[in-house]
Amino acid sequence: MKFHVLTLFPEIPRAFFESSIMAKAVQKGIIAYDLVNIRDFALDKHKTCDDSPYGGGAGMVMMTTPLASALNSVKPKRKRVIYVTPSGKKFTQNMAYELSRESDLVLICGRYEGIDQRIIDSYVDDEISIGDYVLSSGEVAATVIIDAVYRLIDGVIASESLEEESFSDGLLEYPQYTRPEEFLEQKVPDILLSGHHKNIRAWRLKQRLAKTLRMRPDLIAKARDNGKLTKEAEKMIEEITRIGEH
Ligand code: ADE
Repeated sequence: MKFHVLTLFPEIPRAFFESSIMAKAVQKGIIAYDLVNIRDFALDKHKTCDDSPYGGGAGMVMMTTPLASALNSVKPKRKRVIYVTPSGKKFTQNMAYELSRESDLVLICGRYEGIDQRIIDSYVDDEISIGDYVLSSGEVAATVIIDAVYRLIDGVIASESLEEESFSDGLLEYPQYTRPEEFLEQKVPDILLSGHHKNIRAWRLKQRLAKTLRMRPDLIAKARDNGKLTKEAEKMIEEITRIGEH
């Protein structure tokens, strides 16, 4: 998979691509990236990339020609073009899975008050928001999307880790403990020291359900609608809510 990031500030995504697991995945050739500086396609000597909006209003809009030229410079024919914007569809783990199957992802990082609608209509496949808040930088939002996507690509992370993590089946994660057995006057739950795998699995499921009920009851309803709650899970939910465990 290759990420093509169209940006006025390539140093922001570059720092990310050059660090930790991401850099390793690049080194191994599992992923590749291309940082396209939109400013390189500006037409005047000042490298102007913004202009005032037709109809008036606050702020500036990204100029059409430099952005269109930057998009045209991305050569692969089969590519998915994403405009990262607070006005887009909300990003989810399912979207991350779907995007991880593409061969070339193009991300347009918005700045100013946004980009010209005609660019969206002509080039963009998806408008994606990372949440209901406004960041000053589309680069940070694009980096969030890239992070969620690249780690799902085969070979980046062990598949068992992906299977157990939050959202993979619609529930939040169970609590984790490591050494020492007692820390800050709190003991690791006995069951985790018992070596009894069946009981540990059931305990973890119950912990996940209790945490999801407490933090994100909407996810319980969604998991139920998607048929992801087993009879065992439903029974546990009943117990948790009956004794107010969550
Ligand atoms: N740019 C600024 N805020 C954003 C958000 N919440 N999601 C995506 N892009 C953004």
